[in-house]
Amino acid sequence: MKLADKVAIVTGGASGIGKAIVTRFFDEGARVVVADRETGAAEALAKSLGTGSFSVALDVTKQESIDRLVAVVAERAGGIDVLVNCALRSFASLVLPANVGPHGSLPPPTL
Ligand SMILES: NC(=O)c1ccc[n+]([C@@H]2O[C@H](COP(=O)([O-])OP(=O)(O)OC[C@H]3O[C@@H](n4cnc5c(N)ncnc54)[C@H](O)[C@@H]3O)[C@@H](O)[C@H]2O)c1
Repeated sequence: MKLADKVAIVTGGASGIGKAIVTRFFDEGARVVVADRETGAAEALAKSLGTGSFSVALDVTKQESIDRLVAVVAERAGGIDVLVNCALRSFASLVLPANVGPHGSLPPPTL
């Protein structure tokens, strides 16, 4: 167990890559904090892991939300050993026009 007794925060941990990291870290013995703005999914995942892990509501775009996360984890877990940042919109949603979904067809190039 590479992460035995370590406290690890995973932002964006409720789904996708973050969720996979949460699960792997838990399997490696960490106490994992699932920090995500999707609070229902984050709480369900933390509960499914069991003892020692928990979720905290987080919006990484808001400093006060980040400050609260750090304070809550420090109080509940006694410190922070690892931070993994996965919270963000998917890359596709950042580069594609708002009316084109990640799996939609791209508009023709303007040459
Ligand atoms: N999936 C890929 O192939 C891929 C490849 C390269 C990079 N990435 C990057 O990795 C990251 C995660 O990708 P993913 O595919 O797992 O995405 P995802 O959408 O499955 O998961 C992102 C998670 O972040 C949370 N989130 C979004 N905005 C948030 C905010 N403001 N505050 C707190 N939580 C927030 C979402 O609720 C979600 O649980 C993204 O930044 C993405 O751009 C993904």
